[in-house]
Parts: sequence; C-alpha cells; structure tokens
Amino acid sequence: MKIKVINADIPKVKCDLLAVGFFEGTGKLTGWTAEADKMLGGTISSLISGGEITGKLSSSTVIHSKSSHPVRRVLVVGLGKRVELDMDAIRMASCAVIRSAKKVKAKTVATAIHESGDVDRFDACRALTEASILDNYEFKGYKTDKDDEDNEGLDELIVLSDKAADVPGYKKSVFTGQVCADAANKAKDLVNMPSNMLTPKDFVKIARETCSQNRIKLKVLGVPEIKKLGMGALWGVAKGSIHEPAVLVMEYNGGGPGARPFGLVGKGITFDSGGISIKPSKKMHEMKGDMAGAAAVLFSMEALSRIGLKKNVVAVVPLTENMPDGGALKPGDVIKTINGKTVEIISTDAEGRLILADALGYANKLGVSKLMDFATLTGACTVALGDVASAILGNDDEYVESVIASADKSGERLWRLPLYKEYREYLKSSVADMKNCSDLGKASTSTAAIFLKEFVGDTPWVHVDIANTADLDRDVRFYKKGPTGAGVFTAINYLLYS
Ligand code: BES
Ligand code: ZN
Ligand code: ZN
Repeated sequence: MKIKVINADIPKVKCDLLAVGFFEGTGKLTGWTAEADKMLGGTISSLISGGEITGKLSSSTVIHSKSSHPVRRVLVVGLGKRVELDMDAIRMASCAVIRSAKKVKAKTVATAIHESGDVDRFDACRALTEASILDNYEFKGYKTDKDDEDNEGLDELIVLSDKAADVPGYKKSVFTGQVCADAANKAKDLVNMPSNMLTPKDFVKIARETCSQNRIKLKVLGVPEIKKLGMGALWGVAKGSIHEPAVLVMEYNGGGPGARPFGLVGKGITFDSGGISIKPSKKMHEMKGDMAGAAAVLFSMEALSRIGLKKNVVAVVPLTENMPDGGALKPGDVIKTINGKTVEIISTDAEGRLILADALGYANKLGVSKLMDFATLTGACTVALGDVASAILGNDDEYVESVIASADKSGERLWRLPLYKEYREYLKSSVADMKNCSDLGKASTSTAAIFLKEFVGDTPWVHVDIANTADLDRDVRFYKKGPTGAGVFTAINYLLYS
C-alpha cells in the first residue's frame, strides 16, 4: 500500500473512500467532518441527530456521494470520547477505516489526522500509518485458486493535511511508520510460512538478502563454527533434525567506530515438535511460528538501517529445528554451553532457552553494551497474561522500565514478571550446573528467564517472552488474529528514542 501526504480541499481529493472522524457526544461538526457533511448535503448531521452515527470508538458508517463527485463514498469513523482520545484510539479507528474500506472494496482511501488533548498530530500520523499497514496485511499463502478477490487490500492511503506547512512533518511520520510496519509485516510473513518452506537454511537466505540490501554486515556461523565455539546447547537441539543449524551474526554500524554495540537476540526455532519430549499433536502445527523472535530481530535490524539509526547494533540469531530423530537430545542428557556451564536436560521441549543460552553468551562475548532478546519461550505467558501483553524480565530495573515505556509508546504492551533468586532453586541438578527446566511446572516464564540470566554476565539485559502475543487466535486491540510481528515496534522504538 502506497501512502501519500497531501494538502488539499475535500472536493478536490479523488478517492474511493474518504474517512472522517466523529467524537462521541459532540454537537457541532468541525474540520474535515464538517466539510464532508457540506459535500453530502447534510447527511452526516441528520444521521447524527437520528442516532445512527454515535461516534463510539471504531464504529463506522459508509455514505455514498453523488456518482459524479471525485470522492465516491464517505466513511464516518467513531473516535470515542474526545477526552479519551489517545494513540490506541487512533490505532483502533485507523483499523476500522481499513476494514470498512476492504468491505466496500475501496482501493484508494483518504483520511485526515486528528489531534486532541495530549495527542500530537505527528505521532498520530505515525500511529495511523502503522495501524493501517498492519491491518491491510494479508498473507499471500499457497492457495492455487486465485479468484478469491477478498484477499486483496488497499492500494493507496492518502493522508490529508489541512496546513501545507505540516506536510513535511507528516511525511516524516509516514516514512517512520511505514518502515516499522513493513518490518512487522515481514516478520508476520515468516511466522505464517510453513516449516518445510522455512528451514534454517531458508531463513539464512532471507537474512542474506535483507542484510545485503540494507548495509548490514552478516556472518553466518555453520556447524563447524558452532562446535568450535562450544555452543553445545544449540548443537544439542540441532542434532535431532536433518536440517543443519546456523547462527546469524548481523552488524549494523550507525554509530562511531569505537561505540560498543547494543545486542539483539531472537529465538529461531523453525519448528518445535518438542523433540523426544514430544508435544501433543493438537496444536503442534502452530510451532512453525517458534521463530517469531528471530524474525522480529532480523526485520528490526532492517528497519533501523532504513531509518539510519546513529548507533551500533549487533544481532545474534540462532536457527534450528527441534526434532526427535535418532540423534536427538534425550531427557537426562548433559550438555555443555558456550560459557562452560553444564546443563541436565529435563525436557527437550525447553529448547528455546538452550539455543538462547549460547546466543546470549556469544553476544556477551562480543562486548555488547546491553542485551535485549525476543523469544516465544513459554506457554505459561498465556496463563499469566492472556494474549494482551508480552512478558518482560530483566536484571536491571531502570533498563526494564525504559523498555516498557518505549514499548508502550510504540503500541506494544509489556508486563514485568519477577526474577526472584529463589526460582534458581527450581533448576538445581544433582549431575550438572543446572537443569534446563523445573519438573515442578511453577513460574515457568520466570524460571526460563532465570536460566537465561546465567548467560548474560553483568550486562544489562531484558528478555521479552512473546509466546502469547506473536500469533493470536483472535483480534486483540489493533492486532488481527494471526501473527502480529510482536517485538518489532519495541526493539525499534527503544533503540531510536532511548
Ligand atoms: N515454543 C515453546 C513455547 C510456546 C508455547 C510458544 C506456546 C508459543 C506457544 C517452548 O519451546 C516450549 O515448549 N516451552 C515449554 C517449556 C516447558 C517444557 C518447561 C512450555 O512452555 O510448555
Ligand atoms: Zn519447546
Ligand atoms: Zn520452542
């Protein structure tokens, strides 16, 4: 979808659908809404007085205009109560616009920005851009019947500015929003891809293309390097699959040559069968998305490069399948990790923390200033938080708080879970330095993070568990059912504005 910013009067805008906003409980129409009402000969006003247009957030009413008019239809979208207008309301209303546009098969949609109270119009423009692009997303899929037109989204979104002087500011917001939302949509594509089409090797190929197009240096560690570096945890998981593992090491240098890089890490399990501790079959197909963290990190790197971040960032992404063949890890096995610590395997399904242990340990050896990892790590996240917020855990209060604040501004919700030292006791092993998981099933998200903490040394680190938010089974806020691109907005916003 192309996004254009123009300064024009309504009668001159050529579009299939013009979206204007209406606040709940307001009387006199103003701005673009008043203009649209004039153009429609007062239809909006009469629908309001008749109680058909209420302004309730995300409500939408489509009105046809005279066939000769360049604006073919007007959509009145509810913005909720004026005093409650916030970025989330803008995102919700933007989604309502895209959904209505799709319903009436509009290809070109024009919309105006709403500013009110604490909402800055340029931030609103970015939020509108992001929510619209996220909502316009459709996975192409592999259906051979191409007649299904319903799958097609909008071609163009026109952002109307009532002041010519605001156009450059809006264009900047549109650019940032577009880059971030494109990154999230690309991550969604990879989560949607089946694991037979997205093996570690396929992921490496996509990373090569992405990095070469975005001035990102890429080193790919293969089996010899993985063994040589002592990544026994990653290798342990990988040896149950016929597909070879790999580790992506991506370097973006936007800062000075001496500046320590920030470290991003993402879990890249291209399919998690559970290994020998095999998962029940009912929802196993969903485990093709167990690389959502890896995808979020790859495309966040792309976005940061496109925006031109003035910092150095290194991203470490371990990629493998978790499969149960004859060479697979078995419960009771002991493996040695990159930092020399030994781990007794209790469940081969707690594989994410194993590959992350080596990846975090490796990133730490590169001398990163801070670490941030994204991983679909524990189902317990859903028990704790449902599907409305990802879990965040970390070893540095100030850092955790600032990541939560950046995420919040970006539209992603993070909720902190504790890393009490007592959880470490759950991992006590009689044969190794630690178990890979507790056999008690208590505080699973915290226990997983306590395990990871062993590999980050003193580096400030946050771990974001996106197991409950990366792929939704219903619409939640402005996220549609299906993959969400969780983590992308958090990573980008934190790095851009912290
Ligand atoms: N990939 C899963 C976690 C997951 C579950 C992601 C549901 C998305 C949706 C992870 O590797 C896993 O299997 N975790 C286990 C850990 C347990 C064995 C300690 C879990 O959460 O059940
Ligand atoms: Zn697992
Ligand atoms: Zn997993």
